[in-house]
Amino acid sequence: MTNSAYITTPIYYVNDKPHIGHAYTTTLCDVWARAMRFAGRDVFFLTGTDEHGVKVEKSAMARGISPQQLADENSAEFRRVLALFGLSNDHFIRTTDPDHKRQVQAFIKRLLEKGHIYLGTFEGWYDEGQEEYHTETRAKELDYKSPISGRPLTRAKEDNYYFRLSAFQAQLEKLFAERPDFVRPEGRRNEVLGRLRDGLQDVPVTRTNFTWGIPMPDAPGHVIYVWIDALLNYITALGLADEKSPRAKYWPATYHVVGKEILWFHAVIWPAMLMALDLKLPECVYAHSFWISEGQKMSKTLGNFIDLPTIERYHATYSLDAWRWYMITQGPLEATDADFSAKHFHEMYTAELVNTFANCASRTSAMIGKYFEGALPADGGGEVTNRNWSAICHEHVRQTILHYERFELRQAAMTALALVREVDAFINETQPFKLAKDPANVQTLGTILYRCSEALRIASCLLWPIMPSKVEEFWRCYGVTCNPTKDRLADLATWGHLKPGTRIEKCALFMRVEAPAATPTKG
Ligand code: MSP
Repeated sequence: MTNSAYITTPIYYVNDKPHIGHAYTTTLCDVWARAMRFAGRDVFFLTGTDEHGVKVEKSAMARGISPQQLADENSAEFRRVLALFGLSNDHFIRTTDPDHKRQVQAFIKRLLEKGHIYLGTFEGWYDEGQEEYHTETRAKELDYKSPISGRPLTRAKEDNYYFRLSAFQAQLEKLFAERPDFVRPEGRRNEVLGRLRDGLQDVPVTRTNFTWGIPMPDAPGHVIYVWIDALLNYITALGLADEKSPRAKYWPATYHVVGKEILWFHAVIWPAMLMALDLKLPECVYAHSFWISEGQKMSKTLGNFIDLPTIERYHATYSLDAWRWYMITQGPLEATDADFSAKHFHEMYTAELVNTFANCASRTSAMIGKYFEGALPADGGGEVTNRNWSAICHEHVRQTILHYERFELRQAAMTALALVREVDAFINETQPFKLAKDPANVQTLGTILYRCSEALRIASCLLWPIMPSKVEEFWRCYGVTCNPTKDRLADLATWGHLKPGTRIEKCALFMRVEAPAATPTKG
């Protein structure tokens, strides 16, 4: 495994406003990026906005502003939201960046020179909303309707430049056969394989029906198709078109994280383009499923859309970290959609954060306050129950890091929380509050509370990528000095870092919240 790591989100269309979908994918990448940095890897985390194409041109026209103005406004809104959510991306790319445009043209020229792009006529079924062509077989499967908007596909014909995708059929089949983890999860990989077996058709690289895009070099009237422009962001952000780029070391990407609806572009067209450019292929394209809301597809008319104001209400009521926790532990990371429900959010918050993590941290700190005047007691040695805490923690740390690495984020969260539950079980079995009644037990009492604090400290390190602010608050209460950008998780997570005598303050991490009366959607 190389030390550098690269993770990307899709770049988001600027004709939409940020909502739970964007927040979700970006949060997944953020958690992974934080975990890998903490694990000692040199991470580059990229997100950004996709700003060209007919849709942006049309929305701008409808508002009576220029496409550039619209892109500037909405891209700024995406960046504002990233900052608001504390997302730790290393760069934010815009497809209107001059540096991106220059490199896209350079890559397209390269493909032309190598004969992977040709001028030809194309006819097919076109989904205007998605700016995507479908083959006859696929269009029939879709009942000649857009799978996204439900609007009829139109028969379209164009004189365009095309990318010889069909020439990569065998190489792509080989890729899928040799690297079963290239597309994850498995259910999604099987869908791609099924479509791949139908045979590949060449795809347009330019369009002539709009002007808001990157001009095709030496071909007046031809504009580079938005999807080709957009996919290339993953390598233009690293400056791969240039001879020497300091960011080149991050290629190939470790994970391209995308939603299931755009997997085909990432799992088939993108690797073929990279093969044509003689560049290495990403390690994994990870396609998550969709959030639905209160049991139904999100829609603005139903009023169940989890838009930015709704998300902000959750932040205000439950905290940003509670929101992140719900995204990671209940989100649609695997092949099925996940339901966002106000009631479920509340239940999970109360069970896992208030009653487990916060309660355990609070009662341990309260007992240290009460029985040891707030100074961490020493571990007096000897067995208290048959727990080998050092071994228990070591195993939880090992498994959690492995889950993070593999993008099994829910399992990472659950393994870290299991360590907190172990501390809870230890307290319930040893009943320190009863032992405290007899001064003769002071040493055992101290040993128990030291072990609880130390195991909690280790669990907190494992939870940090998901809940950075709350964990940092925990660290302040427990006198933990930790800098996740410098310190190494594996070193910190070994037993015995907390020093006896450290001041421990009463710790209240997640407040109890009243159950929601009804769905807090619009209003
Ligand atoms: N611009 C293209 C991507 C180009 S990448 C080279 C695009 N943009 S988008 O703004 O529509 O963003 C799509 C992404 O938003 C999805 O792939 C997914 O990551 C996220 N989501 C949008 N709605 C979603 C849900 N309801 N649930 C979860 N995520 C979804 O497509």
